[in-house]
Amino acid sequence: MLGSIIYSNPTKLYFGENSIDFLKEELANYGDNVLLIYGGGSIKKSGLYDQVVSILKASGKEIFEDAGVMPNPTVDKLKEGCLRAKEGNVDFILAVGGGSVCDYAKAVSVSAHCDEDPWEKYFLRMEDVDNKIIPVGCILTMVGTGSEMNGGAVITNHETKLKIGHVFGENVFPKFSILDPVYTYTLPQYQMVAGFFDIMSHILEQYFSGEDDNTSDYIMEGLLKSLIHSAKIAVKNPTDYEARSNIMWTATWALNTLVAKGKTCDWMVHMIGQSVGAYTDATHGMTLSAISILYYKWIMPYGLKKFERYAINVWNVNPEGKTSLNIAQEGLERMEAFMQEIGVVLSIKELGVTEEMIDGIVAGCPIFNGGYKVLDGEDIKEILLESMK
Ligand code: NZQ
Ligand code: ZN
Repeated sequence: MLGSIIYSNPTKLYFGENSIDFLKEELANYGDNVLLIYGGGSIKKSGLYDQVVSILKASGKEIFEDAGVMPNPTVDKLKEGCLRAKEGNVDFILAVGGGSVCDYAKAVSVSAHCDEDPWEKYFLRMEDVDNKIIPVGCILTMVGTGSEMNGGAVITNHETKLKIGHVFGENVFPKFSILDPVYTYTLPQYQMVAGFFDIMSHILEQYFSGEDDNTSDYIMEGLLKSLIHSAKIAVKNPTDYEARSNIMWTATWALNTLVAKGKTCDWMVHMIGQSVGAYTDATHGMTLSAISILYYKWIMPYGLKKFERYAINVWNVNPEGKTSLNIAQEGLERMEAFMQEIGVVLSIKELGVTEEMIDGIVAGCPIFNGGYKVLDGEDIKEILLESMK
């Protein structure tokens, strides 16, 4: 059942091979000083950097660069980016990279003109933006986070061992995003499959919530089926355009606020995963895969009906002659087999977690309501310890 809804998403998407051809047209909407933000060098290797720079120059832009955005961008790097944006008096930010680069660009966009410490204001106190926002555009090279069409920005503070996301409002969403599936071909397999699982996790976090049966659930089942089908193809043939393009499109719709409509979500897999990330700096999608099956087994008894539906509608489990519990369990078994097939990490030990870190990870994990069961610290600890085996 859906209540009253206001829906709007301001990000304009340019999707498909060579969609970078639209960049020049978009750049004409913004001022001359552009901050070009990118990561550790993959765009230089692929040639995308040269292509973007030549379009910026042909558009008469003055380019200021902020390179070296690391996976899981840090609060120290954010401060550097703010300085760079201010020095260049930039009118526009162009992010070229994965979710980390896009998230970071949004964080710089709201922080450069902020008089307070952005970490404290946005990530600890979760306050709204009340200063000038620099518009952002994205060219995406890694698929998974949905950052290209949402207001999320996740920043890590290594000193306090906290990784926190702020979901900003529509005024911070990218103005446009260029999504060319071909750019994702150069991703290492590990990153590629981590991204696939990130997408799956975004959908499941929203699917396993509330008791309602609404359109969002049906859309999510479709997105999951498309993802599972295409992921199996892409792991064998990473340059299969059809598979990579379906996955790229699915990732965007999995976390651009559409399927959240009518759902209450606690995002607990992400909360636990982010705390694991704060301690290990591990790849985001793998922090989710390492705990997901254990987490879903944990909450299954409290949402059995939905797990049964998941098994039947997404994993094609034949319900005949089986109890609800058996059907639901079979669904999770098929999910685990899929995870093994694509090659994601299934234990936090593999991500570098040690027994000594567990209490800190639990302490750094906020607990929200909205799923089938409100966890407590002990539940989280049990799940983490189980994932150490
Ligand atoms: O830095 P470079 O050299 O570009 O290399 C990156 C990086 O090492 C590489 N890469 C990206 N595109 C490539 C490529 N290598 C070869 N070819 C390409 N085409 O991949 C590595 C990982 O990139 P990263 O951007 O860190 O990955 P991802 O897109 O998974 O982003 C992860 C960040 O997004 C946050 C995560 O917490 C994490 O900090 N998230 C953001 C969300 C949002 N905005 O809504 C939601 C997500 O749940 C997530 O929390
Ligand atoms: Zn995620």
